Order: sequence, then C-alpha cells, then structure tokens
Amino acid sequence: MSSVLDSIREELAALEVAGLRRRMRPIDGPQSTEITVDGRKCLNFSSNNYLGLANDPRLAAAATLAMVDHGVGAAAARLVSGSLSPHRALEHQLAEWQGTEAALLFNSGYHANVGLVSALVGPGDVVFSDALNHASLIDGCRLSRAQVIVYRHNDVAHLESLLQAHSGRRRLIVTDSVFSMDGDRAPLIEMGTIARQNGALWAVDEAHAVGVYGPFGAGLSRDLPVDVRMGTFGKGLGGFGAFVAGAAPIIELIYQRARSFVFTTALPVPVVAAAAWAVALMREPEGAGLRTRLQQHAAYFQIELQRRGFLTPSTPSHILPIRVADRDPQSAMRASDALLERGVFMQGIRPPTVPAGTARLRLTLMATHTEAQLVRVLQALEELRSLFL
Ligand SMILES: Cc1ncc(COP(=O)(O)O)c(C=O)c1O
Repeated sequence: MSSVLDSIREELAALEVAGLRRRMRPIDGPQSTEITVDGRKCLNFSSNNYLGLANDPRLAAAATLAMVDHGVGAAAARLVSGSLSPHRALEHQLAEWQGTEAALLFNSGYHANVGLVSALVGPGDVVFSDALNHASLIDGCRLSRAQVIVYRHNDVAHLESLLQAHSGRRRLIVTDSVFSMDGDRAPLIEMGTIARQNGALWAVDEAHAVGVYGPFGAGLSRDLPVDVRMGTFGKGLGGFGAFVAGAAPIIELIYQRARSFVFTTALPVPVVAAAAWAVALMREPEGAGLRTRLQQHAAYFQIELQRRGFLTPSTPSHILPIRVADRDPQSAMRASDALLERGVFMQGIRPPTVPAGTARLRLTLMATHTEAQLVRVLQALEELRSLFL
C-alpha cells in the first residue's frame, strides 16, 4: 500500500514542479460582486454568475418555498422514483423558451454533454468536435466510442472538408456557442448551413450564452437549425443543473440512452424551482435590462483594455482572457495572486485547461458590477502592467 501512496505522492509532486498543481481558493459568504477570498474582501471578477442571480433573494425564496412543499431530495433517478411535477413543468417551460418540441433536465452541464454525445453517436458513427470545446463535450466524444474528428477552432472550411472526407452511419457536429476560456463565439450561421448540406446532426453547447444572449436570453442558436441545444442553470441563470432541448425523437433517444441521465438521482426540487424562476425572469423587462447592462460592461471593458494596450480579443465578451507575459504556466497564478493583494479576485488559467503557452487570467463580468468596480479593476491591472503581454 505504501508504494501505491508513494507513487501518488510522486505524481502530485510532479504536478507541483510543472506548476500545474491546482488549489481551490477558500471563499466565504455568498457569490456576489464582492466576496471574501482567503479572509480578505475582494472584488469578484472570477465567476460565471453573469447576471448576478446566484444570491438573488427571490431565487432563494423560490427554492425555499419549493423545499417546504417538496423537501430536499428527489429520492432516486426519475426512471426509478418517478417524474415529479416541478421537473415536468420546468421541462415544458424550457421547451417553450427554446422553441423546441421537448426538453430534458440533467444534473449539470457536464452530465448533459457527456450524455447527449454518447446517446446520439456510437461505434460506426463520426463526431466532429471543435479543438477548443469544453472538457465535458470532449469526454462525451470519448465515452461515445464514435470516431472523433477534431476540427481547427471555429474553422468552418476545415470542418466542411472533414465532413466530406469522413462518412459513417450517423454524423454529429458539436460546438460551444461561446467558448468558456476565450469568450469568443462559434460561427453558428455558417455551421448550421454546413450541417444541413452534409446531413449531419448538430449539437450546440450554450452554457455561457443562456441568460446572456439571444431572444429572451434563450441563447445564440435559438433561431438556427440546431438539433440539440444544451443550456446550464449554473452560470447566467444563477442556480445549478442543465437541460437539453430539441425535437421529440432526439430528446427521447437521449432520455433512453444517456447513462448520465438514467443512472443518477434527479435534481432536488428547490434547485428546479430556482431554475424555473430564473427562466421566467428572462422573459421580463428586468431580464432584458440585465442582459443589456452586461453587454454594456463588456463593450466598455474591451475598449478600455485595448486602449491600455492589453492583448485581448477584438470583439467584446463577458469572458475576457488577458494573456500573461511569461509562458511559464505559473505566471498566470502569480498575476492572479498580485491582483488579489490589490483586492481583485481574477482566476489564473493554465494548461491543461487551456493549450500550452496560453496561460492567462480569465476576467468575467457581471451585470451587477458597478461602474466604480470596473474602474477599480482596470486600475489594478494597470498597476501590474509589466506582468501582461
Ligand atoms: C462550455 C461549457 N459547457 C459545459 C459546462 C459544464 O456545465 P456545468 O458546470 O453545469 O456542469 C461548462 C462549465 O462548467 C462549460 O464552460
């Protein structure tokens, strides 16, 4: 046994030496624009709580009320303990919002992506995946045992040539709509055309777009010919869990086949109630106001960072990578620590989460950030100018 533990310690030490050992920062209090990190109060520019809903008292009240009515646990997987009315009602609400025949809840975006890919394709099929897709889509591809073809990031000509070169029983294209580490968008209109022309199924992961973009915050691909759309509740919608939406037979096949749906306890009802409240808010003027404010923040920030000479993408986004000067993966963590000392929490991201040589800080904006908070973070970045490209 001790030799096994020794080999595990060696593996951890190797991660440390390579600058790749991950650590969770201790946070106290609710998720908000200001949080306590390591005992010190900081501005929060490191969360996916884009609309500031995660600690909205109305979301908490919806969850509390549902807990009083239904309790906490869902008791088992839905195929075992039955499908509770709040789950069914939320699926109905989601299908309406997404403009699809059907929707199915999953316990997280990770479960949903792993489940949808492995349900729709298998041995003898081909899946075409963007080189920068989220880990959960990559894991879904691996689990499916279909042939996996990776196309260059957002390169539709490459995707088209690969589609022409690879045939199979069924073909599936998978992409994020907003990429989680770079904040850029997939060329969805062109992709939809290519998918149709080549008779391929098309799945879009809208994890970073639901609540943020599209009609009533329903995502960037809401009005495009997507076969399966995946959205999460854990980011813009402030809660937890996820859904897939699409034509009834596709959702039924996912329901039949996705092991990450079939073999796991259903979402707790309070979580379902919080999601239902957030989705309803998306149709209200308040939801539209939050989206507009987030987009205004993104435009302001992108202009200000470029004006100050930081290397950032040329289109505004609520996710902005800020590349560090040193290629050593540890340099992103040092920049993150230096910002923390100035009262700003912004996470450093390094390989393997991002490709080697692209360590960066990942800045994420919230609609609820104030103008004064935006100015403060720009000042802190400016003070640390020499650390960035
Ligand atoms: C693009 C993308 N898809 C899926 C997920 C997984 O979603 P969840 O956190 O709900 O598991 C994430 C992040 O977590 C993501 O960034």
